[in-house]
Amino acid sequence: MEKITTVTLRQMKERGEKIVMLTGYDFSMTKLLNEAGVEAILVGDSLGMVKLGYETTLPVTVDDIIYHCKAVKRGNSRSLIIADMPFMSYEAGVDEAIANAGKVIKEGGAEAVKIEGGREMAAKIQALVAAKIPVMGHIGLTPQSINQLGGYKVQGRSLDEARRLVDEARVLEAAGVFAIVLECIPAAVAVEITKAVSVPTIGIGAGGGCDGQILVTDDMLGLYGEFKPKFVKRYADLRSQIVDAIRLYKKEVKEAAFPSDEHTY
Ligand code: KIV
Repeated sequence: MEKITTVTLRQMKERGEKIVMLTGYDFSMTKLLNEAGVEAILVGDSLGMVKLGYETTLPVTVDDIIYHCKAVKRGNSRSLIIADMPFMSYEAGVDEAIANAGKVIKEGGAEAVKIEGGREMAAKIQALVAAKIPVMGHIGLTPQSINQLGGYKVQGRSLDEARRLVDEARVLEAAGVFAIVLECIPAAVAVEITKAVSVPTIGIGAGGGCDGQILVTDDMLGLYGEFKPKFVKRYADLRSQIVDAIRLYKKEVKEAAFPSDEHTY
């Protein structure tokens, strides 16, 4: 099957075909994401919370992202791999943004990067794109700004806020992004943004009117039990299946039922 690129996503928007994205952090899950036909995999800085146990995404480093990107790259065959630029890896200046994004592409094997923020990121996005690094934007609830936003809250509820988000999306498109994540905004606002830009919008908590959807894989598989935002649909409850399997193994070891002859040389 044909390898998915940033151009494929644009073509999907043009023909009205929804784009399916999930997060990926390791080799084995990436193989399953490919097998299931997911079009794009985000090595999200959500890995800080779901894989490393931090309370926020803020402590994640460029090296953390590269480590996980390499594992995803080894498991990937067809999906587009996008890597999150972690907090403070692109804020300080254009040169730092290019150096860190370049490292994520060269060492991690990602094919594009995602950076959070609107108008204030336009110059950096232009510079990254000029340096041949495809960039995905991310507006609405931007978890790296959690200390300024004062919590994980829905954004763009007032008319002014909604207009600002539409404007930010247009600025990102003009700066050269190939797609934009819309996180935690009212569905009607996401529809307006999706109509206002020609690049695909990928929603998470932004309703069904976006060009595609993304969820954190550990959330939708029921692996991450710390909290569940309203927008997460659990398609499986792997956590309890895994605990049941481990309990059964424990029981069989205690009772000397495992290993049986079948598993013994
Ligand atoms: O880090 C992440 O996984 C993300 C998605 C939730 C969009 O940014």
